Amino acid sequence: MKISIGTIPDNELKEKYESEKTLEFGKYFTDRMFKTDFSNGKWENPRITKYGPLALEPSAIALQYGQTIFEGQKAYRTKDGKLNLFRPALNIKRFNNSAKRMAMPEIAPDIYFDALKTLLDLERDWAPKNVGSALYIRPTMIGTQGRLGVVPSNAYLFYIILSPVGPYFPEGFKPIKIWVSEQYIRAAPGGTGFAKTGGNYAASLLIGQEALEKGYSQVLWLDAIHKKYVEEVGAMNIFFVYNDTLYTAPLDSGTILPGLTRASVIQMAKDFGYSIKEEALSMDEIVDGIKNGSLQECFGAGTAASIAPVGCLRYQGKEHIINDFQIGDITQKIYDQLIGIQYSTIEDPYEWIVSV
Ligand code: COI
Repeated sequence: MKISIGTIPDNELKEKYESEKTLEFGKYFTDRMFKTDFSNGKWENPRITKYGPLALEPSAIALQYGQTIFEGQKAYRTKDGKLNLFRPALNIKRFNNSAKRMAMPEIAPDIYFDALKTLLDLERDWAPKNVGSALYIRPTMIGTQGRLGVVPSNAYLFYIILSPVGPYFPEGFKPIKIWVSEQYIRAAPGGTGFAKTGGNYAASLLIGQEALEKGYSQVLWLDAIHKKYVEEVGAMNIFFVYNDTLYTAPLDSGTILPGLTRASVIQMAKDFGYSIKEEALSMDEIVDGIKNGSLQECFGAGTAASIAPVGCLRYQGKEHIINDFQIGDITQKIYDQLIGIQYSTIEDPYEWIVSV
């Protein structure tokens, strides 16, 4: 694939951020973006242009009916100046699974990967240096055809943008408080819960905002049928540790995002010798576990969020405090190993890293 690379006059290049300490998640974007169009059944005109607004029909199917998908990845800068991608083949696979569910065309893995490598190479100076900061990668596909009939678009734009980011939660690697949603649900069996599509996130905005106003960083979703079993947190999957066994919700209902970090935590935890149970766990069992002390730890896992210790669940009007609001030993061990692999400060026994 021959990518055309536009030039940006020096006086139009942005000022880089002043300090990595103030890199709010998702607020800044680099100078360039990648774009390619799908029309007449094929991807064409791959190009790197200046980052900037898109021209879209007001009737574009993405805007009217939400035919959009995206991925979340990070490039981690190592001490020797390389950029580490973490299991990028899995992002490409998940992107194409989301595309299928949303009646969108797939993208060939080599187009996606070449585009990403070329863009990262041009923008590598934007990658922050601190552990915990990264260059966040947001590949996106949208239906661009303008029409009001509810049918899949016949034209698409695939693009990649890059955002230098600090930790997703402003508090960094510290326990967070989570609001358990009793009224709203995120996804139902047969719906789009497993796909990374905008609507899943749109549905979370109202209660997410209410939770934030009350001092909770995230919302924990329960299953749609019984409103009882824990599913995920929207920006991350969630793990509960009982007596050295890690529980997380199974993926078979199709209502949960199959997280790369989730899969990696499962692998690392097994190799540390812990048992893993991908089983439905009810809020009642969780509250009992907190009360009787058998629930030792809870943490979230996601690309943006990394590993996020959870210190409090608010459910049925009460705050349930986990592990005295301290980071648990298993959470810490998994965080250290994951971060070590991602920034190449320890050996990568799994060959998860692809350096560019
Ligand atoms: C990610 O973890 O990369 C996500 O896409 C979650 C969220 C920030 C939308």
